[in-house]
Amino acid sequence: MLAPLLFVFFVGLASVARAQIGKDLNCTKNDGTDDVYTDRALICSNTQKDAVCEVLYPKNPDYPTVGGKEARPSNCFSKDGTELDQDMQKTAAATCAKTCGLCCITDAYKCDDAKFPRIKCSGVTNAQCQSPEWRTIIASDCPSACGFCNEGGCVDSVVECANDRSICTTVGMQDFVNQYCQKTCDRCASTTAANSNGGAVTTPSSGGGSCTSYQADSSTACASWATNGFCTNTFYTLAQRKAYCARTCRIC
Ligand SMILES: *[C@@H]1O[C@H](CO)[C@@H](O)[C@H](O)[C@H]1NC(C)=O
Repeated sequence: MLAPLLFVFFVGLASVARAQIGKDLNCTKNDGTDDVYTDRALICSNTQKDAVCEVLYPKNPDYPTVGGKEARPSNCFSKDGTELDQDMQKTAAATCAKTCGLCCITDAYKCDDAKFPRIKCSGVTNAQCQSPEWRTIIASDCPSACGFCNEGGCVDSVVECANDRSICTTVGMQDFVNQYCQKTCDRCASTTAANSNGGAVTTPSSGGGSCTSYQADSSTACASWATNGFCTNTFYTLAQRKAYCARTCRIC
């Protein structure tokens, strides 16, 4: 009685182990033996309701997981389950990217990062994507890491700002919103737009005249950033350079 059950169990395991992602290897990496999904494959949300996506894209027999090698639902990338079809893939990415394990090819996650980022973009964690200390640096240097590609370099550093826009006009909250709710309250100092290469182009706001004292640097890395050209690099807005390294860069 037990033996046939065990047999079924082990055959089941073996077929899971043999599963392969198949034709569409976007958002995967090779871990030495197999192609497995990267964390960027599932980092986004579906734009359709998850339950709707599970109907539109039935599992095959399991849904993609980070580090896993489950086959994608076949209509995520194909009409017939074998040939890659760009239109099918595009539709899936626009509606059910997470269910399909295709987050990394959605617009928000698909752009070039800065040429000389201040942090290692591939090491950015989900926690950093939510962190007030990191969000503005990531938005300008590693936008693809957190799905900031459509934000033009301008994000709220506190994610809750957008819950209540009235904060933008509240007397007494202005210092706070200037620092933490730049996106929601329209406080980004310059217009930033993605160029055709996906990199950010910034138009610095006009410089601040002459002064004799500077606000303190907020980063401890200013000396080395300055050596690398941070103070004059127009990839960063004047406001960004001032926010991090006003003293080192001598920005009023
Ligand atoms: C990623 O998807 C595109 C179609 O949008 C396809 O041409 C390409 O081969 C895919 N890349 C991999 C590695 O599967």
